[in-house]
Amino acid sequence: MNYTSVSFQKKGPDPEESISLSEVIAALSLAIELSDGAMHGHALRSCLLGMRIAEEAGVTPAEKSALYYALLLKDVGNESMVGLRSDRGASIVSKLGMGSLAANAIRYIEERWDGSGQPEGLHGESIPRLARLCSIAQHLDMFAIARSPEAAVETVKELSGLWFDPALVEVTRSLARRGELWTHCMAGDSHEKIRAAVLERDPHERHCLDDEQIDRICEGFAEIVDAKSHFTFRHSMGVAELAHGIALNLHLPEDRIRLVWRAALLHDLGKLSIPNRILDKKAELTASEWRIVKRHPGLTRKILDRIEPFREIAVVAGEHHEKLDGSGYPKHLRASDLSVESRIIAVADVYGALSEERPYRAKLSREKILPILESLAPHKLDADCVRALEAFLEQQPLPGFEPGAASDDQDDQKSRYCA
Ligand SMILES: [Fe+2]
Ligand SMILES: [Fe+2]
Repeated sequence: MNYTSVSFQKKGPDPEESISLSEVIAALSLAIELSDGAMHGHALRSCLLGMRIAEEAGVTPAEKSALYYALLLKDVGNESMVGLRSDRGASIVSKLGMGSLAANAIRYIEERWDGSGQPEGLHGESIPRLARLCSIAQHLDMFAIARSPEAAVETVKELSGLWFDPALVEVTRSLARRGELWTHCMAGDSHEKIRAAVLERDPHERHCLDDEQIDRICEGFAEIVDAKSHFTFRHSMGVAELAHGIALNLHLPEDRIRLVWRAALLHDLGKLSIPNRILDKKAELTASEWRIVKRHPGLTRKILDRIEPFREIAVVAGEHHEKLDGSGYPKHLRASDLSVESRIIAVADVYGALSEERPYRAKLSREKILPILESLAPHKLDADCVRALEAFLEQQPLPGFEPGAASDDQDDQKSRYCA
């Protein structure tokens, strides 16, 4: 059995490459935009607009850095209600270690200068300044997409003193007059250009992350994915715990265990693109709904591929629904293609899904799940990985150990337990 997938070995990127926070967040902000109704590139464009206004208005370096990440992450959980969204965004930003300045910028983003906003009806300068900046930046982009950049500036002017801070509106208008507001933020600008412009403005000058910070970011994004549907509450975290336990019991080297942990946390990132009407559906899925569900591992890979040092994680995470006999998806890979890391996550994912409640079935106990996993090995699931999972579960102090409280593995719906 190989470490890392065969397809990845062919690519051969540099594992020594350092990784910057802005690079990770900019790529992952695209994952957030896979959600229903989101505007592609909105976070990146809002970030550029907001940073330009902030620089012109004069902010401290600490504020600049908080604003940068707040704008990239402001729409975390955007399919839920506005109030909830701000709270979830704020809590994830604090979890990622970005501090209370960034968290409050998101928490109060829907407040309005005249006190008519949410969630607290704050008024004027009692609204945190960064939240006022975020608000004007996100609206400029939304108005520009709906109409045009000129109309957006005009609308912001009309709402000066109502929704927006008059001083910031003046700064916005002066930037627009000088032709400095919209560079790389126009509808026709290529995505790569926008992304490069955002990365150039990294307030940490591409400060490199250490392993613990990368883990925290992966955990934060696992939380975003899991929060999408209450059926998948803690699914990614649960699968990561199980996969980690399997990797330990298989005595993988430390760097491989870390890779498994991160890939498991991020494996369902592409699921953000599946509408909740499908994820939460009780009845059998239609053929076209199945096609949508089956796209998610490929999307996971595509998003993670944008982060150069995550390319190996991208491959492993993108293979979590592949099966040894070629019956999985999206690539119908076979045993000879699948690395030990991919096999571990496939086993952990099936266990995790079956241990969680689904719209169409109750959750199963460990006693019921293990015989199912054993029946899937060795033709679909790796038998060593299944044994290692059993060993891991036996090591748990509590017999009722639950890896998570719910998953996406809709494939168990179709073929019963043949995920
Ligand atoms: Fe999945
Ligand atoms: Fe999953």
